Amino acid sequence: MNQPILPLARTARFLDPGSRTAQLHAQAERRIPGATSRLHYYFKPRPIYAQSGAGCRLTDVDGDTRIDCLNNMTALIHGHADPDVTAAIVAQVGRGVSFSEPSQPEVELAALLAERLPSVEQVHFRSSGTEAVMMAVKLARAHTGRTRIAKFEGGYHGYYDYVQVSFTSSPANWGDAANPASVPSSTGLSPAVRDEVLVLPFNDRDGVERLLAEHGDSLAAVLWEPLSNRSGMAAPAPGFLDFLREITTRHGIVLIADEVIAYRVGPSGAQGLYGLVPDLSTFGKIVGGGLPMGVVGGRADIMRLLDPAVGGRRVMSGGTHSGNPLSAAAGLATLRKLTPDAYAHLAAMGRRMREGINAVFRAAGVAASATGEGSLFQVVPTDRPIGNYRDVPQDAAAMAWMDVLHRELLCAGVIISSRGLSCVSSAMSPADVDEVLHGFERAVDAVRRG
Ligand SMILES: Cc1ncc(COP(=O)(O)O)c(C=O)c1O
Repeated sequence: MNQPILPLARTARFLDPGSRTAQLHAQAERRIPGATSRLHYYFKPRPIYAQSGAGCRLTDVDGDTRIDCLNNMTALIHGHADPDVTAAIVAQVGRGVSFSEPSQPEVELAALLAERLPSVEQVHFRSSGTEAVMMAVKLARAHTGRTRIAKFEGGYHGYYDYVQVSFTSSPANWGDAANPASVPSSTGLSPAVRDEVLVLPFNDRDGVERLLAEHGDSLAAVLWEPLSNRSGMAAPAPGFLDFLREITTRHGIVLIADEVIAYRVGPSGAQGLYGLVPDLSTFGKIVGGGLPMGVVGGRADIMRLLDPAVGGRRVMSGGTHSGNPLSAAAGLATLRKLTPDAYAHLAAMGRRMREGINAVFRAAGVAASATGEGSLFQVVPTDRPIGNYRDVPQDAAAMAWMDVLHRELLCAGVIISSRGLSCVSSAMSPADVDEVLHGFERAVDAVRRG
């Protein structure tokens, strides 16, 4: 990035108390707690409100257009209103939006996922990533006859009670690094949750070995979130996943890869990238092409517990919208566009973005970095290597810096999440990425000037 900073128009009308955004926000505050149904998009003084999206750009209700590096929390891998995905949705709308009956798109999507993911022999559809995780945990319990589960510190797996643990823990309550405390990340949970969920230290082989030696025989599942954004998208240390596969097998524990976000990185997801064969996997986001979606897939002998013909230990399932044809049609159109060329383009844009952002931070002398893999990137308030959740600064100063950077990015025409989660879409060109990098230059400069 040696070019001069372009004179981009400030996209800051959302901050104006007289803006349409402020009006909508005031209206929302009266009827919706916190004015949002999604706490992940909560920030001060108010969110921007989407009016429309096209490709990699999103226009807010005040008419300000920004480059979208969030894409509905990573769910839109082809950006907004992709013509092929839109055509598939419109065609399905003409045939009917939902049925009691199963339909062809659901069957075809199951086949496509099984074709791309060697670990997936059978597939069960849900309506969200949370539901997929819930079902995976239930399957693991039914399969093993055990109830407790383990997850890695910092891993986010949705808002099912038994996984709402230790993804917001802090130095004040997280305990020993090798034996992390099980810290509820929400109120309203049964106290049983804390006892039922063991928290593991990611990338700490000795720590995991010790904890599983003590608790392994009581665990139904170990949940792993590849490229966990709350852990700075830390990559697995060499050999760590082989170790995890071996030790879970040794203890008869079902290993679940939660690929709700990470499936973006390639046709066989993060498990393909890292060469792991989990017992079960969960998916969502891009698999629904921008519409509600959750998937659990994996070993046929475990998945078969959902088969009503099996009887006995059967796992009950339901869901009015599970396997709905609209989401399945959008997902099919989305995945079919993800050709080897499309993945290569996404990876190139992701690399250009990460390298460019890191160059901006370095040039400004800011101790921050962009991490990630493939089309995913994460802005973290440190330039030190990240091995797990504890390496990502959680202190008030770091959070305040992220808040200001996020706001200045919005003012400079760039959308990322307030905690740094970001992604590129296939709709982005190198010129679009460079525009984002100019936005970062402006935002970093504005943060420095206070
Ligand atoms: C890794 C992971 N698992 C599960 C979920 C929950 O998915 P949903 O928001 O569709 O319920 C998320 C959501 O961001 C996620 O990132």
